[in-house]
Amino acid sequence: MEILKNYFAILEGRIADFPEARTPENLYDPVRYILKLGGKRLRPILALMACKALGKNPEEALNQALAVELFHNFSLIHDDIMDAADLRRGKSTVHKIWGTNTAILSGDAMLVLAYRTLTDGCDAQQIPALLETFNQTALEVCEGQQMDMNFETATAVSEADYLEMIRLKTSVLLGCALKLGAIKAHATSEQAASFYNFGCDLGVAFQIQDDILDLYGDPEKFGKMVGGDVMAGKKTLLMLHALDHKEWGKQTAEILEKLEGAARIEPIKEIFEQTDARAHAEAQMNNYYQRALGHLKNIQLPSEKEAELESFAKFLFERDH
Ligand code: IPE
Ligand code: IPE
Ligand code: MG
Ligand code: MG
Ligand code: MG
Repeated sequence: MEILKNYFAILEGRIADFPEARTPENLYDPVRYILKLGGKRLRPILALMACKALGKNPEEALNQALAVELFHNFSLIHDDIMDAADLRRGKSTVHKIWGTNTAILSGDAMLVLAYRTLTDGCDAQQIPALLETFNQTALEVCEGQQMDMNFETATAVSEADYLEMIRLKTSVLLGCALKLGAIKAHATSEQAASFYNFGCDLGVAFQIQDDILDLYGDPEKFGKMVGGDVMAGKKTLLMLHALDHKEWGKQTAEILEKLEGAARIEPIKEIFEQTDARAHAEAQMNNYYQRALGHLKNIQLPSEKEAELESFAKFLFERDH
């Protein structure tokens, strides 16, 4: 997407020498490492886009955009420990290289850097709204992450439970990114709420797609281990659909009970084929994507501004990584 190049350039310029030199180096090396691994930068781009959509220079929201990206990368370092994941963005995860103890502490430092950056250079009257939005979101992400892990071993997880869990662990951060950008652009509270809701529904669609790509993505492009969710027994929408299935549900539960790790992947994949689990997840993903576009329309932005956010949403919807 052509317009993304501008946003990328703004962000990479700010990230290039971040954080400033501090010691001990092996506390900050993992921070630099994960930031340099790249990623799609979708959350900070959303923050910049929201600010621009309200007629301001996107760079006015640059610190808030970076704060969200720092928080996201902190959560990935800790998530990879929790999910026992060896691969992130096609490279070794932080805990694989530096060990779990350093990964925990570098993640903690990154969270502090995120808070420091969030209010850096802000007007005093904007700080309470920025902090309130960020605090609420950060706690919700932790709540969602705990639910995600609780569900690995829980037997009665409903589709509604799953949707609430991914709303918390993933989608509120997209909503937060947009809302922070909107706050920096002096949005009305209605506008800020619509930006937030747009991001939340987009984020639910985004996480459903992440769960689909976990099994069906091209590992070269996706950059994470194939089938990691199945190995861990994650209750994704695909897994819940198989578990709920009249004919196949019992067998799905038996596989999860009897087999561990990689041995689960082929038999579970076969059941997903038999039960059309992927199509079911894709239908839900599409529902949330359409809902997101409804919230975007509610903001009543000038048409070229709305079109930019809509084309970014479409770009995410069609992603393969
Ligand atoms: C990964 O997020 C974690 C999820 C919420 C699925 P992204 O897919 O945005 O990760 P990067 O930053 O582009 O690597
Ligand atoms: C990630 O969910 C959510 C957070 C990091 C808060 P996943 O565990 O599905 O993310 P990936 O697939 O490892 O990127
Ligand atoms: Mg996880
Ligand atoms: Mg993970
Ligand atoms: Mg995933």
